[in-house]
Amino acid sequence: MKKIAVLTSGGDAPGMNAAIRAVVRKAIYHDMEIYGIKNGYQGLIDGNIEKLEIGSVGDIIQRGGTILHSARCEEFKTDAGQEKGIKQLKNHGVEGLIVIGGDGSFRGAQKLTEKGYPCIGVPGTIDNDIPGTDFTIGFDTALNTIINAIDKIRDTATSHERTFIIEVMGRDAGDLALYAGLADGAESILIPEQKDDFQDVLNRLKRGHDRGKKHSIIILAEGVGSAVTYGEKIREAMNIEPRVTVLGHIQRGGSPSATDRVLASRLGAKAVDLLLEGQADRMVGIQQNQLVDHDIGDILNKKHIINLDMYKLSKELSI
Ligand code: F6P
Repeated sequence: MKKIAVLTSGGDAPGMNAAIRAVVRKAIYHDMEIYGIKNGYQGLIDGNIEKLEIGSVGDIIQRGGTILHSARCEEFKTDAGQEKGIKQLKNHGVEGLIVIGGDGSFRGAQKLTEKGYPCIGVPGTIDNDIPGTDFTIGFDTALNTIINAIDKIRDTATSHERTFIIEVMGRDAGDLALYAGLADGAESILIPEQKDDFQDVLNRLKRGHDRGKKHSIIILAEGVGSAVTYGEKIREAMNIEPRVTVLGHIQRGGSPSATDRVLASRLGAKAVDLLLEGQADRMVGIQQNQLVDHDIGDILNKKHIINLDMYKLSKELSI
């Protein structure tokens, strides 16, 4: 394999640039030509493809976002869209593709592989919702962004003796909420994997109030519902005026943490190795600090499992 390409797709995640850098440098190290596709699968359809050199990825390891830009592309879910993409790859003589993104991005990669284009997936999403890897690129940075925000909110929550409900991202996964709650000693955590725990939140609030504790932090994963709605429910049930903070896209930005930079560098380089070995339809991951790879089809058929022992622990520690 002499010519490969890389794209980022779906929601951006801090560390994607470090992964792009690793792919580009590893490919050049192995005397391959490497092309960058801009705007994800939309850019592939449009032929937004350019050759990358060593210098193209200089000074990006510390930058958030993705220099290749990203998009969610409906057209690529269709046969016609995929055929257009394949035509562009053929025009550029590209023999293999590395896709950095989440499960939606891997579905596209799987389709291309089925149609004869070897693809390798690199898990990049703040949600940490991909099976087959302990962590996804961007999760650690987003978690640290959340922690910084909650630390600040806690100051004012304590001063004013208020209850705060903080909504964090994660799509259908509760990992960001769970890790943030444990790291920040939140009084309650609401995650989609344990939806029916609202009564427990109320009980905890009541218990706290009875022993004179007037402030509390409740972290709500967006997959459970809206923090505004839950704020209303708490106001009605407890006769208090909780404050609501939706952290939003601040969680997706910022310079990647050291952990994310190292993870992205290892996963990006591994993806190039797999293409060189003649592999296709694989997703790289990290499990127990070892690089692994899995069949993309298997990954797409599985569900990410949250660590419920950690959830139990968070309850035990925030009595
Ligand atoms: O998948 C990453 C993510 O940030 C999710 O946590 C969130 O639900 C979604 O993307 C937001 O998407 P958009 O940027 O399109 O609003």
